[in-house]
Amino acid sequence: MNKVTDEAHVIEHPFLNISHIDMVFPTDNGGFTALKEVDLQIKKGEFISLIGHSGCGKSTVLNIVAGLYQATTGGILLKNKEVNEPGPERAVVFQNHSLLPWLTAYQNVELAVKQVFAKTMSKGEMKEWIEYNLKLVHMDHAMHKRPDEISGGMKQRVGIARALAMQPEVLLMDEPFGALDALTRAHMQDSLMEIQNELNNTVIMITHDVDEAVLLSDRIVMMTNGPEATIGEILDVNLERPRSRLSLAKDIEYNRLRSEVLTFLYEKQRKVENITSKKTTVKPQSTQSVKEA
Ligand SMILES: Nc1ncnc2c1ncn2[C@@H]1O[C@H](COP(=O)(O)OP(=O)(O)OP(=O)(O)O)[C@@H](O)[C@H]1O
Ligand SMILES: [Mg+2]
Repeated sequence: MNKVTDEAHVIEHPFLNISHIDMVFPTDNGGFTALKEVDLQIKKGEFISLIGHSGCGKSTVLNIVAGLYQATTGGILLKNKEVNEPGPERAVVFQNHSLLPWLTAYQNVELAVKQVFAKTMSKGEMKEWIEYNLKLVHMDHAMHKRPDEISGGMKQRVGIARALAMQPEVLLMDEPFGALDALTRAHMQDSLMEIQNELNNTVIMITHDVDEAVLLSDRIVMMTNGPEATIGEILDVNLERPRSRLSLAKDIEYNRLRSEVLTFLYEKQRKVENITSKKTTVKPQSTQSVKEA
């Protein structure tokens, strides 16, 4: 495991540079410093997982990279250009699936596809592309339903289809598979690995699932508890790709990485308020997550 202060993660010409970020939110009692000195350089095509306890500031980091929040100090450079607003090269899958409620699943994806491909695709090609992406997330049967007619997990899948359909250079995902059943979740994880391998998108994904983080990532960035949350440790995941969940389950290195993350979360950054109220139960590997500790 490498401490962030190690030189192991110095990237000379980062594709995405999260540079010395502080985030102070104004509150009634004065400023609340959610993030302090968050600094991370990311290579093109890297898959980064952000993991940390609830409320530590993961979504805030993602929203700053998305250009939705402006950092109080520091900032984001994408290919050396400062990011100050959202852009179609950075697609976001939101934690609360934020679809436009008056549009159907198809129309929600269509809006994003038009934004990116209106000049390069014909109407027919766009239709095919929208349907292809909705099929990928198993939503083809309900694509003409509106968000209030479908479940939370289905809304989340439409959000994922919308982001993937934009073929973004940077894919920002805030707990994208959180509301999915185990089978759909595994299918989506495998599809995401395939897509990312094909398109070489740079991905930042927030997750509470330790196994998901190890399976998908090149690096796992572990955040300390807030306030003044920052990057505690960074774990390199050098497992060969393509990765298969079944063969990895018995892999020694996979299990070592998994226990490194668990140690960080439950020993080094243990949340005091959880200890008195709940017993830690060890769940089967595929479902163990931070929220359940
Ligand atoms: N707009 C805001 N105004 C004031 N405080 C905020 C605001 N947004 C977030 N915070 C605070 O900043 C901290 C980090 O919030 P954030 O949503 O980034 O956490 P998180 O790690 O994504 O949590 P979770 O895992 O529960 O989604 C929290 O203490 C939260 O209350
Ligand atoms: Mg969050």
